[in-house]
Parts: sequence; C-alpha cells; structure tokens
Amino acid sequence: MIGRANGKNVSITGLGCYVPDRVLTNHELAELVDTTDEWITSRTGIKERRIASQEQAMTDISLPACHKALAMAGVDPKTIDLLIVATVTPDMAFPSTAALLADQLGMPDAGAYDLSAGCTGFMYAIAQAYGMIAGGLVDRALVVGGDVLSKILDWEDRSTLVLFGDGAGAVVLDAVDEGGFLGFELGADGGGGANLWLPGSGSRHFDEPDRFVKMNGREVFKFATRVMVSSAEAILEECGKTVEEIDVYVPHQANIRIIDHAARKLGVPDEKVVVNVDRYGNTSSGSIPLALADAADDGRLQPGKLVLITGMGAGLTWGSALIEWTHATNGAAA
Ligand SMILES: CC(C)(COP(=O)(O)OP(=O)(O)OC[C@H]1O[C@@H](n2cnc3c(N)ncnc32)[C@H](O)[C@@H]1OP(=O)(O)O)[C@@H](O)C(=O)NCCC(=O)NCCS
Repeated sequence: MIGRANGKNVSITGLGCYVPDRVLTNHELAELVDTTDEWITSRTGIKERRIASQEQAMTDISLPACHKALAMAGVDPKTIDLLIVATVTPDMAFPSTAALLADQLGMPDAGAYDLSAGCTGFMYAIAQAYGMIAGGLVDRALVVGGDVLSKILDWEDRSTLVLFGDGAGAVVLDAVDEGGFLGFELGADGGGGANLWLPGSGSRHFDEPDRFVKMNGREVFKFATRVMVSSAEAILEECGKTVEEIDVYVPHQANIRIIDHAARKLGVPDEKVVVNVDRYGNTSSGSIPLALADAADDGRLQPGKLVLITGMGAGLTWGSALIEWTHATNGAAA
C-alpha cells in the first residue's frame, strides 16, 4: 500500500526508549562462537549490543520506554485509547503484550493488540495508528516497537547471533494543527519469508517446536539493499518531495553496509543519516524508535525538519514514512 496522509494532521508528540543494562561486546561473542571482532565490525558495523536478563521479557523492556514517551507528551495514560505493540517476541502468544502493558500502564479505555511484521513492525504500527486517529476512531495512540531477540537466537549459530540485540521504543501519536505524517508505503512478500523465519513457533510445525531464528543472510542482504531504496523513492514521489528536501534519514539499523548502500543510492549525504547499529546491533522493531531518539538527542530532530524513515525485515516486509517533525523530543534516548 502507498498513500498520502490526507486525513487529520497527526504527529509524534512523545518519544521514549529503553535498552537493557547488559552490554555484550564482539570480543565476548568471540569467546562463545567461532568469530572475531574484526569479522563482525567489517561485515556489519556492529561493535556491541544490549542483552536482556533472564527475567526480562517484552513488557519489561517496553514499560520504561512507554513511561518516558507519555511523560514527554505530557499526557495521562488514561487518555490513550489505542495501544499497538509491534514485536515478534511477545511475552507469550496470548494474552498480547499490548493487553498486559495497557493494564500495567493504567489504560482502561485502550484497544490494545500486538502486531507482527518482523523488523518493519514499528512502521506498520505507526501507519495503523495514524489511520485510526485520522479516521476519527481514536484520539490518541501509544505505539511500541521492540524485541527481545536474544531469547529466540541460537547461541551456537554465529551467522545470526552476532547481528541482533534487545531494545524497545515508544511514541505517543496525537492530532496536531499542522505538520506530522505526510504519507506511508508498506509492503510484504511472503514468497521470500523462508529467508528469515522462526519455523517452529506456531501452528505449522507444532509437533517439531524449534524456537530459534533461521536466516539466509545473503538473500536478506539482497532484498534489503533493494527495498530500502525502492520504498524510500516511492514515498518521496507519492508525497511530492525530493531527496534534497530530507533533513534526517532514519534507516532500519540492521547492518552499516545496508545503510551505506541505501544512503548512497538515494543520494542522502552522511551527515543526514542516523546510525546507532554500532552500539545496539539490530533491535528489530526497536531499531527505528531508538534511532529517532538518538537523532532527537543529538539535536537533529527539530520541529519543521523533514524526516524519512524506512524499515525492512522478516515477512519479508518493508515500509517507509515521511514526517514533518513537530515536537521537541530531546531526552528520549535509552
Ligand atoms: C549476515 C551477513 C552479515 C553476512 O555477510 P556476508 O558478507 O554476506 O558474508 P557471507 O554470507 O558471504 O559469509 C562469508 C563467510 O563468513 C562466515 N560467517 C558467517 N557468520 C560469521 C561470523 N559471525 N564470524 C565469522 N564468520 C562468519 C560464513 O560461514 C561464510 O563462510 P564460507 O564463505 O566459508 O561459507 C550479511 O549477509 C547480512 O547482513 N545480511 C542481512 C542480514 C540482516 O540484516 N538480517 C536482518 C534483516 S531485518
């Protein structure tokens, strides 16, 4: 789907992030599997990532991010009437992480559900929340993106283990007078789904449960370099904007080589590209809000700035959004 945001003006009025305290470096990984800091750094740009404790599940890493986003927006949790949690690592299949979080946050009137679109989950979720607010179904939404991928990684598989980390972010979406979301593009290709999957996690392979992520890295790399460019170009054209008008480019943080390729192909100069994959690795649905928060904290996300966001991930899925930033969101970073 692709479309201009031509309903009410809706924007991000609060932003908050959280990552677990535990830092896991490449050097530590090299003691667990046959890899090196040099290999990981040169192939991915990742130096370290955060790993949840044994007790921490998705609700636990989301809660601090939600508190921060709500405080920044200055809104009472009771006034949230939609809570979407984008994740592939919910606490459990049901009840949804969103229902559990809504209860913990004190949101008795919120419709609450989880959404699964791999690392693109946050993009899908903000598009849905935009549509619900613009269409008049809800007034105010809280959108969470995050994952605890360390729990579903095979800690003996060097080809996936080194890429991912844990983290979550949350945004408050509200109607505003001007600016905010300009448009969205979302896509999915289930035909490529088996290139990044968790085969034993549902009803298909119920008798042979296998709870570890499997990935064909080369195929995902090819897919990623293609859609990161095509999705961004499509949304720019749809909204009548040019690459030169972009002030801040927030790509999904999977691999510095994918980010560099997309920025170069699109023609976005380095100083406009937000990168934190070196510190967090790929945090799946947490990646975009964590990158937004870093951009806000280093002063780049000022009101009036045009922000291009593009994500991609399991599904295979991808998605872009253009936003004219409206609110000061400094102080959101993890
Ligand atoms: C995974 C990825 C970093 C591998 O980089 P690459 O340059 O394509 O490397 P290759 O797949 O060609 O593998 C090269 C070799 O390194 C080996 N290797 C894989 N992981 C390794 C590791 N952690 N340490 C050392 N060697 C490793 C492979 O076994 C392979 O060995 P071989 O040539 O003897 O078979 C890259 O393909 C990638 O980033 N893909 C996208 C993954 C992604 O972003 N997924 C999430 C999407 S949301």
